[in-house]
Amino acid sequence: MMTEVTLTIPRPMVQARAVNKTIRNGSHRVEILKSIDLSIPAGQFVAIMGASGSGKSTLLGLLAGLDTPSSGSIILDGEEISHLEEDALAQLRGRKIGFVFQSYQLIPTLTAEENVLLPMELSGNGDDPGRARELLDHVGLSERRHHYPVQLSGGEQQRVALARAFMVRPPILMADEPTGNLDTANGRHVLDLLLGLNRHEKTTLLLVTHDRELAANADRRVSLRDGEVVGDELQARDE
Ligand SMILES: Nc1ncnc2c1ncn2[C@@H]1O[C@H](COP(=O)(O)OP(=O)(O)O)[C@@H](O)[C@H]1O
Ligand SMILES: [Mg+2]
Repeated sequence: MMTEVTLTIPRPMVQARAVNKTIRNGSHRVEILKSIDLSIPAGQFVAIMGASGSGKSTLLGLLAGLDTPSSGSIILDGEEISHLEEDALAQLRGRKIGFVFQSYQLIPTLTAEENVLLPMELSGNGDDPGRARELLDHVGLSERRHHYPVQLSGGEQQRVALARAFMVRPPILMADEPTGNLDTANGRHVLDLLLGLNRHEKTTLLLVTHDRELAANADRRVSLRDGEVVGDELQARDE
């Protein structure tokens, strides 16, 4: 009997081809990333791991188009981004990527809720206070909606930054240590939120993390050492 096997290979959502990042520091050059080649299919959950200083944040910034490689190319959802003008790049980023910075980068003059609403307003899609409230609720901050960033702890700011990144339902979510400042309960909450997005909205997730529980839930682990990929493994999810 013949068995027909149909393989559907999801399209690559995020690709890096021969990416190098070198920074000139006075008289010497520092190679921060060396020959990075990655292809991340749509819907994959990737954990980026590695010691402090190994280049994780730099890589994430390059993949998001927030920084430019010294050589090589970054391709987002089939579009090579290095040739794009700043405006076109900002638009593409706005449509495709939710980004959570390691330092949160909330707007100090806006409340938690206004920060969460901002991406939607910037994208010209009006606003959706209901969704903003729901997201703040999900990250356990419904009582903090009207607080300003200075009135929030580091962990609370981190959760506002996550809610903000989820606001426009981006196909790609990138986060730099999203549970880095959270206690176990809130870390678990954020993990559930991320997994929910990945499963139900098929969001491609790229997370820089040291968190074992988070990493154990990823489809793939990419390890960096001294600016190079030294490990790239698929894994069964720990559910
Ligand atoms: N703008 C910069 N100028 C000089 N060195 C930098 C700059 N950005 C990052 N680096 C260096 O590049 C290396 C990788 O940094 P980073 O990507 O922040 O690592 P990680 O996020 O893994 O801790 C570190 O040694 C860091 O000091
Ligand atoms: Mg970092």
